[in-house]
Amino acid sequence: MEYHLPVMPEEVIEGLAVKGGGVYLDCTVGGGGHSFAILAQDPTVRLVGIDRDGEAIEAAERRLSPFRGRYELYRDNFKNFRDVLYRAGVDGLDGVLLDLGISSHQIDDEARGFSYRSASAPLDMRMDRDGLLTAEYVVNEYPEDKLLKILREYGEEPFAAVIVRNIAARRKRGRISTCGELAELVEESIPPKFRSAACARQTFQAIRIEVNGELEGLKECVTGLARRLKTGGRMCVLTFHSLEDRIVKQVFRELESECECPKNFPVCVCGKKRELKTVNKKPITASEEEVNENPRSKCAKLRIAEKTA
Ligand SMILES: C[S@@+](CC[C@H](N)C(=O)[O-])C[C@H]1O[C@@H](n2cnc3c(N)ncnc32)[C@H](O)[C@@H]1O
Repeated sequence: MEYHLPVMPEEVIEGLAVKGGGVYLDCTVGGGGHSFAILAQDPTVRLVGIDRDGEAIEAAERRLSPFRGRYELYRDNFKNFRDVLYRAGVDGLDGVLLDLGISSHQIDDEARGFSYRSASAPLDMRMDRDGLLTAEYVVNEYPEDKLLKILREYGEEPFAAVIVRNIAARRKRGRISTCGELAELVEESIPPKFRSAACARQTFQAIRIEVNGELEGLKECVTGLARRLKTGGRMCVLTFHSLEDRIVKQVFRELESECECPKNFPVCVCGKKRELKTVNKKPITASEEEVNENPRSKCAKLRIAEKTA
């Protein structure tokens, strides 16, 4: 089975406007699907790939092997991109790709504990298996108010209050240790008429975002990555969550804006210059055909920007 089917591959390649001799950074290399397409564009393209998951690095290494010598892979958090680029001896970039969230492989591998469908799997959800925080800890140790905030903000779960109340009552009797136990508890917390086969999805998503610190420092990171682009370099960001998309939209808007001095100032004193130009005003979404073929692409949003100075 394929490790991960890349989302909107053609749109991403077009968005990056890959050119010969260019150096590209894939911050979320996963199974290497997008990286493969980037490297296949031109025999003089070089790529640096990052993933915090060791299994992803191994899968990408296998996938990209026909291009050996033109790519380097690093197991790291992309938030450490400065260090990675230093190690790779790369300064300016011609393109950056971020394909946020988790891969199909991570969801499908029961042992990783990401899926509400994996009944007996341990509550884990770490992308980086050396990470200290697990879903089991979040569910069993977090104070109720913190859990509630996570389920509401990251999961946009309308029944968050009942779910958290039931988690608190349940953990007094013993630890909640499997995905199945949590999924069942969530299902029982939701009124029957709102129940569905996927009704634990939002709770699992919220806990996963917390375990992996997915939103922490994302704004600063996207800003820093945009600033490593050469003039004319492109950045493509694929998001699967409204909070992530909002952050990307905000960064692009901030870097696109010019002087921020009050309107009544006779001359600019802030010195702010436009650094980016958004290529698509509205995010690109997957075609109906792609959604039918790869349902995971349904909620994906692609934003593209170009470095102006
Ligand atoms: C959606 S998948 C990427 C799939 C990839 N584009 C492909 O074509 O196969 C997201 C990947 O990003 C990785 N990831 C998520 N957050 C990360 C972070 N902060 N640092 C490094 N890797 C991260 C995950 O481990 C996962 O493998």
